[in-house]
Amino acid sequence: MENMYVFYEGKIVLEREVHISVRCKGFNYGLGCFEGIRAYWDETEKQLYVFRLREHYERLLQSCKVLYINIPYTVDELCQATIELLKKNNLQTTTYIRPVAFKGSNHVAPSLLDDDNRIVIYCQPMGNFTGKDELRAAFTSWERLGDNMLPPRTKPTAAYLNSALASLEVVSKGYDEALFLTRNGHVCEGPGENVFMVRNGKIITPPPSDNILEGITRDTVMRLARQELGIEVIERSITRTELYAADEVFFSGTAMEVVAVVEVDDRKIGNGHQGPVCRKLKELFFQVATSKIKTYSDFCTPVY
Ligand SMILES: Cc1ncc(COP(=O)(O)O)c(C=O)c1O
Repeated sequence: MENMYVFYEGKIVLEREVHISVRCKGFNYGLGCFEGIRAYWDETEKQLYVFRLREHYERLLQSCKVLYINIPYTVDELCQATIELLKKNNLQTTTYIRPVAFKGSNHVAPSLLDDDNRIVIYCQPMGNFTGKDELRAAFTSWERLGDNMLPPRTKPTAAYLNSALASLEVVSKGYDEALFLTRNGHVCEGPGENVFMVRNGKIITPPPSDNILEGITRDTVMRLARQELGIEVIERSITRTELYAADEVFFSGTAMEVVAVVEVDDRKIGNGHQGPVCRKLKELFFQVATSKIKTYSDFCTPVY
């Protein structure tokens, strides 16, 4: 990726020209937060559509506010910089965009009062994240971080060590993805995606008070289920065995997209294959992401 362009310190520059100190606080203490955004390539229209671009930068600035990382850009400026970056890299494939806001100072102390606030935006092609359409998940013994520890709502870089420990535990045992429980034993989310279950014709997903990231894909899925499929969607706490007993379970996330979970802790979910609700939502999601459904065309920002 050395020859790709990135947005750094207000300019679009070659990635290999960016040098960040080994002493940087963002690196030493994880004083940063980030976003993950996708842009979908439509081969027939030869167009790249960035999915819910504004919402991602609104969430980033909200995270920055909570974490005292005062980057000097508005949502509009960040959207514009991202479009220019994608154009400059001449990307004509589905792409993942990663803005990281962080404390840049080299001073030895994990202080958020430091006023060296920076943002870097880089991008890379990304297809199906796991390469699979059906996942086997397992609960991790690591507990999900709470709002009073390292607020999951803010997508803090440091919190992804919690995600990485969970993934390490379950992936090394042969599962595809981890699931977290909260301290209260409520189903929370995956290391980088939200979780849904279908029971008795209703879709149920954990509420923000169960320490989830309020996913933009989660919001999209909830809207599509309600508005396009007429299915009731309920946000409420879920217990572990309820998930085992569900008719369907699926994940949603920018990298993960919408993907079926067909096994949890070695228990088959439904008939052990992707269920009809997940299949329909996934189809709708990809149509919406490539601006095929007019009602949702404002979710898609064309690059070219
Ligand atoms: C912990 C966590 N939960 C959920 C999500 C899904 O959020 P979104 O759909 O906004 O990508 C992500 C990905 O950003 C995540 O890192």
